[in-house]
Amino acid sequence: DGELVVAIDGPSGSGKTSVSRAVARRLGLAFLDTGAMYRALTWYCLDSGLDLAAATAAADEKLASDVVEAAVELPLIMGLDPEHETVEVDGQDITAVIRDPRISAAVSAVATNTAARAVLVERQRRLIEQTGRRVVAEGRDITTVVAPDATARILLTASPEARMGRRGHQLGGTQTDADLHRQVVQRDARDSTVVDFMTAAAGVTTVDSTELDFAQTVDAVIDVIRASK
Ligand code: C5P
Repeated sequence: DGELVVAIDGPSGSGKTSVSRAVARRLGLAFLDTGAMYRALTWYCLDSGLDLAAATAAADEKLASDVVEAAVELPLIMGLDPEHETVEVDGQDITAVIRDPRISAAVSAVATNTAARAVLVERQRRLIEQTGRRVVAEGRDITTVVAPDATARILLTASPEARMGRRGHQLGGTQTDADLHRQVVQRDARDSTVVDFMTAAAGVTTVDSTELDFAQTVDAVIDVIRASK
């Protein structure tokens, strides 16, 4: 089959990872979760002893250049099969641990480092090429920076209430409202200082999932892809 690159961006809790995976399965495409790459870099930095939680992280030049160095050397292998995604660093399977709240809490220190982003963006572009350009790539800047030339470009949104509700459900309902607000709304506010994923760029179609269930959201995304071909 021919080239089909689907770029999907959106805030946390919008369902973009699970929706993108389902779309990739349905269309027989590879699946690239770029958030997992920022999480893998965060894990690697912490594993290497970098203190990302330092209050001055953004202002600390030494730390910032250490993060860039870590991005360049990151021994990362991404498994792009939507039936069985894997994230491996230095031979260790970190697919599950990168979802830990300690990683979510530290990831912005990496994601707001523009030089480190440039390194990851290059790797993401290479991975897209390696799929033969048959992939659903999902993140915050795929429609605008990584693959602005994608066949279909979608911004998946939902109200803050819906997004906090879904993330809470995902985490097993054990989080307080304040925790969820930190993990969803505050993280997005920090992240959106470097990339705008709250408003659709020109040529990007918005799918608002606030009133849709999972299956309806997948269908709405597939409709946009069909209309874009
Ligand atoms: O989507 P997920 O929550 O796994 O993403 C983790 C973090 O990675 C985000 O909070 C954001 O800081 C960063 N990210 C990014 N650009 C992307 C994907 C993720 O900055 N394309």
